[in-house]
Amino acid sequence: SERYGFVVVSNRLPVDRVIAEDGSASWQHSPGGLVTALEPVMQANDGAWVGWAGQPDLEFEPFVDQGISIVPVPLSAEEVQRYYEGFSNDTLWPLYHDVIAAPTYHRVWWEAYVQVNQRFADRAAEITEEGGTIWVQDYQLQLVPKMLREIRPDVTIGFFNHIPFPPLGIFSQLPWRKQILEGLLGADVIGFQRADDASNFSRAVRHLLGHATTRPYIEVPVDDESAPVSRRGKKVRRVLAKHFPISIDAASYEELAARPDIQARAREIREGLGNPKTVMLGVDRLDYTKGIRHRMKAFGELLADGRLSVEDATLVQVASPSRERVETYKLLRDEIELTVGRVNGDYATMSHTAISYHHHGYPREEMVALYLAADIMLVTALRDGMNLVAKEYVAVRRDNDGVLVLSEFAGAADELKSAMLINPHDIGGMKNTIMRAIEMPKRDRTTRMRALRRRVLDNDVAKWSASFLQALENVRPGQQITP
Ligand code: G6P
Repeated sequence: SERYGFVVVSNRLPVDRVIAEDGSASWQHSPGGLVTALEPVMQANDGAWVGWAGQPDLEFEPFVDQGISIVPVPLSAEEVQRYYEGFSNDTLWPLYHDVIAAPTYHRVWWEAYVQVNQRFADRAAEITEEGGTIWVQDYQLQLVPKMLREIRPDVTIGFFNHIPFPPLGIFSQLPWRKQILEGLLGADVIGFQRADDASNFSRAVRHLLGHATTRPYIEVPVDDESAPVSRRGKKVRRVLAKHFPISIDAASYEELAARPDIQARAREIREGLGNPKTVMLGVDRLDYTKGIRHRMKAFGELLADGRLSVEDATLVQVASPSRERVETYKLLRDEIELTVGRVNGDYATMSHTAISYHHHGYPREEMVALYLAADIMLVTALRDGMNLVAKEYVAVRRDNDGVLVLSEFAGAADELKSAMLINPHDIGGMKNTIMRAIEMPKRDRTTRMRALRRRVLDNDVAKWSASFLQALENVRPGQQITP
């Protein structure tokens, strides 16, 4: 089969399978941030993308989409349930997000995780050129780096973790903690969102595997005679573990925000809401890590206290459907929808709603219109790897207006220091911050937004992928990938 010099491996492929009403199937390009960032790199380096098409039992031949070769990894219905819904999203996801929900540990889920990771590794190994580069993405595939190294020691291997890496005390709960660490250490470079994630990882490696670390490197003992010797006199392979905060394609958001039709749509959205004085916005996948309930509680209390009325402020909440077969997500949806009903039942009037709730995903154009329509963006995650919504809101505000209220527990808070930072567990504090945001003078809004925009526009996703690829190139100079 065909071979490629640069291979990206992720659980989801950058294409969606769409089934029309007449039953015919086709592929739709799904332009997520990662795809946008890697598209030019892949086109310039003869790249391939290995992943799952998002539905069980879907087998198809590799094909080319927008200059990228799409290489499928099929999963059976049982594997989807055990590897994806089970181990990835009901064990690792809650564990890595500070156990906000209780993780479930099932040995059969772990076995499926191993088996499916092996399938991804085998497929990637099969299609990569001699001396090529493989970049593995995210928590669903943490065993792939080691599996790859065993089959293809000639290849340079990168791994990027898009979600947090938990502190040792939490990570240690995992019955398969050593296997996960060893799996990741198969990579040459391991990227994290925040400096804290990288240090949580190094600490776990020291305590659970006993390897030495000299920041930002981890010394993995090896048998290879030609390997360099560490200060302790052991043959080692040095693995770089460092933060590379991900970003967005800021310029493309700015471009959309400049479009007159999208600006008109933003005005239309405000009118549709009855022109309240302040429009507040939340945009999230419907996930318990996002603090959607906390935000609604704060807003509901402000209405109950009489500090706000529905003519003063409306909360628009977009909650896009996610992982709907996992029990915790079903329960969360019920709770949120109960809250929306209660708050609206108590406070909405015939002309003004309190919470305008939307359980949908929307195209990017509509999202930009919503951001432009929002005076205040509420990002109240209890824990989040980065949170790109915060960066998108900033990127579209070419008018240097709008206030970003941002949780300290989102990775984005490390960079976006000029946001109004909040602790979402502190409902009283969040209420006060929301009031301060509503009352903030224009001059202060501008000062803050200018600083935020500088940060986001200077550090876009192209810079992110280029710096990660540079770190990979440093491992084996001469085998570079053109960024
Ligand atoms: C997070 C994860 C991604 C994942 C996305 C959507 O951003 O880091 O790996 O693809 O959520 O979740 P889903 O389970 O639908 O792929």
